[in-house]
Amino acid sequence: MANTLVVGTQWGDEGKGKIIDVLSEDADIVARYQGGPNAGHTIVIGDKKFVMHLIPSGILHPNVKCVIGNGVVVALEGLIQEMDELLSRGVHLDDNLLISDRTHLIMPYHPIVEAAAESQERCQKIGTTLRGVGPAYADKMNRQAGIRVTDLFDDELFAEKLDFNLHIKSQSLHDTQNIIRKSNILETYKAYAQRIKPHVTDTSLFLHNAMKSGKRILFEGAQGTLLDVDFGTYPFVTSSNTTAGGVCTGLGVGPKAIDDVLGVVKAYTTRVGEGPFPNELTDSLGEHLRQRGNEFGATTGRPRRCGWLDLVGLRYAARINGLDRIALTKLDVLDELDIINVCVAYKYGSDTLTEFPSSLKILSKCEPIYEQIPGWNTYTSDAKSYDSLPANARRYIEFIAEQLNIPVAIISVGPKRRQTFVL
Ligand code: GDP
Ligand code: IMO
Ligand code: MG
Repeated sequence: MANTLVVGTQWGDEGKGKIIDVLSEDADIVARYQGGPNAGHTIVIGDKKFVMHLIPSGILHPNVKCVIGNGVVVALEGLIQEMDELLSRGVHLDDNLLISDRTHLIMPYHPIVEAAAESQERCQKIGTTLRGVGPAYADKMNRQAGIRVTDLFDDELFAEKLDFNLHIKSQSLHDTQNIIRKSNILETYKAYAQRIKPHVTDTSLFLHNAMKSGKRILFEGAQGTLLDVDFGTYPFVTSSNTTAGGVCTGLGVGPKAIDDVLGVVKAYTTRVGEGPFPNELTDSLGEHLRQRGNEFGATTGRPRRCGWLDLVGLRYAARINGLDRIALTKLDVLDELDIINVCVAYKYGSDTLTEFPSSLKILSKCEPIYEQIPGWNTYTSDAKSYDSLPANARRYIEFIAEQLNIPVAIISVGPKRRQTFVL
């Protein structure tokens, strides 16, 4: 297979980081196309744990080049911290990290603007990660305020754009004491610019040339399908196109660059932040999944809401992304259950819905219709192959594949690299 897109199919945290790390073994390039430091992609190697927020999850492989695409929003302070941490742990970055010159910046005022909106009574609270991602994308789209990586290298333009932003933002925040100070930002960003300069390039051109010479690319999605700004549970979404369509605009590659779409599916569902979640378990079973699955945010540490697998949402994800294959993760988290529920449709009043509704009013009134699958009550974390899985675990996997009509190609039974097998 040439170029594979690895995309989240639920509300994020499906285990994309782990799957990317495993697949990077056979890749030349890993390229992130959207999102920002709201993402937390975990990789566990032996007893070492790495959490990536902005740097693509292929970076632990010395022969893999990692691209931060134009569709990502980057906070330079966070990026440099992440780079420093990797360097201190012996990871090679010099010519392995490439940053698009068209990438937009999350500036110090963006998290402040976001916190103000999230705490205002009249605003809809989204439960964001408060990393400034939404306000940075808003500035990109409104065109007057957005600041790009390329602007860092034009002192006059950068100062002008900063001036404009500080004026507008301090007005809207009623920041009469100027807590966001221009002189500090100018100085700090000069240093940041010098630090990242060796990594900055036209990454669309880099990818184009790499594809011409037969290099293999993994496109790394952040968040998940149901957090997509167009197709997710709007307004309880993130501010980018997390789905397959985002690859082209977020990296500057044509649609034919994607040969294979791999959807990462967690064996149950989780969600962080506000918004409807029809299969949510607010009882001790939900707590069991949270504890066994260690479902606490990789970025904010918030407890993740947990619930059963939702085939209505997954059918939708299969359609929106054009999924070819599935990587099923965290199967081991279900090891201790007698019965496992799978939501096959929603009940809405007297109607049965099999397609994911656009209206949140409808979605929040939907009740899951479950099919029960017997549990396997056997530990699977040491399983080495599909055949060595308990019969009921295989039955669960086959049920999902049949219902979605998509093959399950990878199974993950633990956070470590070796706890993965390809079918
Ligand atoms: P991502 O955002 O999609 O990369 O996922 P996160 O890293 O936020 O969350 C996934 C969590 O599950 C991380 O703590 C992983 O180490 C862990 N994980 C990944 N795959 C498995 C698995 O198959 N079993 C278990 N028990 N944990 C897993
Ligand atoms: P990864 O890549 C899970 C959620 C937030 C909030 C909503 C909007 O690790 O799967 P934002 O800060 O993006 O404006 O928040 O989206 N969210 C995620 N949930 N995994 C993520 O990323 C997420 N990134 C954002 O909790 O509900
Ligand atoms: Mg995550």
